[in-house]
Amino acid sequence: MTPAGPRLAGRRVLLIVSGGIAAYKALELIRLLKREGAGVRCVLTAGGAEFVTPLSLQALSEEKVHTELFSLTDESEMGHIQLSRSADLVVVAPASADILARMAAGLAGDLATTLLLATDKPVLVAPAMNVRMWTHAATLANMATLKARGVAVVEPEEGAMACGEWGPGRLAEPPAILARIEAMLNHAARPLAGRPVLVTSGPTHEPIDPVRYIANRSSGRQGHAIAAALAELGARVTLVSGPVSIPDPPLVRVVHIETAEQMLAACRAALPVEAAVCVAAVADWRVEAPSAAKIKKTGGGETPSLVLAANPDILATLSADGPGRPRLVVGFAAETDDLIAHATEKRRRKGCDWLVANDVSAAGGAMGGEENEVHLITAEGSEDWPRMAKVAVAERLAARIAEALA
Ligand code: C5P
Repeated sequence: MTPAGPRLAGRRVLLIVSGGIAAYKALELIRLLKREGAGVRCVLTAGGAEFVTPLSLQALSEEKVHTELFSLTDESEMGHIQLSRSADLVVVAPASADILARMAAGLAGDLATTLLLATDKPVLVAPAMNVRMWTHAATLANMATLKARGVAVVEPEEGAMACGEWGPGRLAEPPAILARIEAMLNHAARPLAGRPVLVTSGPTHEPIDPVRYIANRSSGRQGHAIAAALAELGARVTLVSGPVSIPDPPLVRVVHIETAEQMLAACRAALPVEAAVCVAAVADWRVEAPSAAKIKKTGGGETPSLVLAANPDILATLSADGPGRPRLVVGFAAETDDLIAHATEKRRRKGCDWLVANDVSAAGGAMGGEENEVHLITAEGSEDWPRMAKVAVAERLAARIAEALA
């Protein structure tokens, strides 16, 4: 879901402008950040002040520009520790070879490096320097150190340099830096960013012969909504789906299968994951030996008998202890009577951590419908959730999963 209005409304960036001819591009970056609704507080190093004035940064950012470490007024208004944490993200653009070296060494001789050492926020650097400085072994080692510590980098671009040379070292263009800032700030709002999770959804089709199959009424709506909600929180979702008539959710890797055995194989292939949510209505039985040819009616009117075999229980398989077990396994239980008691017993029997129980009796009517009324059964007991849209159930469950994996 794209939020309405400016994309960075309410977000705060602490922008450190260090020395170099590219410092003028910081002005454009501030303009872009402000246009997206971000608050921008600038810190100008002594080197940076050789290229841009505090006044121009202040005019564009509409905030006081900080330049000195030992300023009595600033210390009384806002200490440097507080300043380093006043933003959601610290950006160094342009980042000179000198400030990168001082960051790598952990020096804190001026306001900018003190803030970089004191901050508890993510840091993004946009290096800009002469090509020989950028490719020097010292800079390469400093960059490797910073990256290993989790500092994010907008790599410099290749091109003609102010000094007349050609090569990588030119500050990335402000829109590219802005895009990276947006990605990092959104990342912070995505508690499951990059975490692998697995969701099963829909029915399975168990062939009787090439044209007939055993199936059930599952629409896939609940499972697909859960996959979409987890993806919204940043998870890398693999959705293993039986045949459904609804579209694949966005931002999700979908593996389409038909039978329970194919579903199990696809789930195994998706491991390791941190959480598995089994929403699929897997057929309990398959036809033991499906006919290779269409079964024909006989002249005598005899009816064929189907010999059934038990399908693998995917939820129980994923819940089984072992080194590859997901940290959190969630099952669903469609029940028609004595909901909580049956579901509590099922949680224990299947070995999953949570079980979401829903009433599929005629009165409950969850199967195939748009709404669901569920109970979350955990080791601690059961929680009754009010009747709500399946999408709302999905969002609430995804948020709970994010909390559990935090
Ligand atoms: O046993 P029952 O089918 O009621 O259990 C429902 C739960 O078990 C659901 O989470 C469903 O996805 C999962 N399940 C499974 N493989 C099966 C049967 C059920 O993963 N063969």
